[in-house]
Amino acid sequence: MYTHEELSQLQAQSLKLQSWIRQQTFSPENIKRLRRFSSWEVSELILGINQSTFRGRLVADPDLPGGEVEPDGRQRWFTLDEINELRRRIKVNRKSLMPPRPEGKRAFRAAIANFKGGAGKSTVALHFAHAAALDGYRVLLVDFDPQATLSHSMGLTDVAEEYTVWGIMARDLIRETDRMNAAVVGAASGTALPQRSIPASIREMGLDALRPADFIKPTAWSTIDVVPSCANAAFVEFASAQYRHLNPEWSFFACVSRYLDSLPDDAYDLIIFDCPPAIGYQSMNAVFAADMLYIPSGPGYWEYDSTTSFIGQLAEALEDLSAGYQGNVPGCNMTLPKAFADIKFLMTRFETGNELHRAMYEAFQKVFGDHVTEHPVEMTRAVEQSGRFLASVYEIDYRDMTRETWRRARASFDRAYEEFRGNIVNAWDKI
Ligand SMILES: Nc1ncnc2c1ncn2[C@@H]1O[C@H](COP(=O)(O)OP(=O)(O)OP(=O)(O)O)[C@@H](O)[C@H]1O
Ligand SMILES: [Mg+2]
Repeated sequence: MYTHEELSQLQAQSLKLQSWIRQQTFSPENIKRLRRFSSWEVSELILGINQSTFRGRLVADPDLPGGEVEPDGRQRWFTLDEINELRRRIKVNRKSLMPPRPEGKRAFRAAIANFKGGAGKSTVALHFAHAAALDGYRVLLVDFDPQATLSHSMGLTDVAEEYTVWGIMARDLIRETDRMNAAVVGAASGTALPQRSIPASIREMGLDALRPADFIKPTAWSTIDVVPSCANAAFVEFASAQYRHLNPEWSFFACVSRYLDSLPDDAYDLIIFDCPPAIGYQSMNAVFAADMLYIPSGPGYWEYDSTTSFIGQLAEALEDLSAGYQGNVPGCNMTLPKAFADIKFLMTRFETGNELHRAMYEAFQKVFGDHVTEHPVEMTRAVEQSGRFLASVYEIDYRDMTRETWRRARASFDRAYEEFRGNIVNAWDKI
């Protein structure tokens, strides 16, 4: 017979292996670093200008960042910061190379969500974040998943649980409860709502004293920050149920919305959410804060089934929220029923030569129409081979693998990203 004790022992053993793998995967200081990008990549793949025009500009203006020259002197290699400076300063036919961003709008929020495990959520979130950063956007990633795949991939392996979405939720409970209690006392007819108290064990964590910026961690990508997750945040679902009980009027699904609303509008351009493979307090916060839903799904029939049941469960959960809480949600610019500026289905791990995959893609189109993205993400060894910590095809140096595999993988993610960006630009005006 086995109890929780054996399970704990097994977990302890597993954690040992985990830390060994982490040591092997990262550079000696355990810090993830971002590589430089070659003049070929910077001109043709990143800035979208031809290589000789690019070289010409560098020669004409010695003040532009020149990158680092390879020992054999042929290619120059640029850092992300240098690329961003080049993008700001170079104009082609008097046109700016900066990516589109409507004036006076806050950052656009996209949730990559599906309750189906292994649908490709984290892979898609990571690649879109990297592609957007190379495109000149400032990105905030929010990792809602206690598996923390995305946080680990961004090099954040040592995260305290207070600084996760769970911390944001517990801080919100305290702040919202205090606000509601004060309103009860202040109102002339303030007898309708009871005073709610928060146990010392929650208050003493000092979360209400944290500033919004305390939850945000920098990464090796200078224009990508992360609200990370960690395995210890797994109890958040239990804790949240208890918190709701402490204050039943608390709009538990709007914590992250309220949090993001408190960041300056122009701090970021895009905010991308990686969701856990389950419906719960964290995924409801992600979905509620999102302007757009992107639903990745594998090309198999069973994945189609799960995606169908995902949208069914999501619809029910959103309908329940609308019934339970009417009208304006306190403290954030969101009303119920929750409305999305766009909803898209993105097929992942797609093989062009596979008839079954093509048939499933057509079935998706038949059923979901314009909601299906035109460009699926193709199955690629570049992602499969990246190991325990996902590395994106953008991070992998093309000299480290077969050039053709790298190019095809990059082209597939580029197409999916460009379509994602087009959808965002269209939807941005609606928020
Ligand atoms: N385009 C792709 N080509 C090859 N392998 C892929 C691709 N997309 C995802 N994978 C692989 O499929 C597995 C699951 O992907 P991923 O972790 O992104 O899914 P997920 O939906 O985030 O999973 P979870 O529900 O557990 O969070 C990973 O091993 C990943 O490397
Ligand atoms: Mg994931």
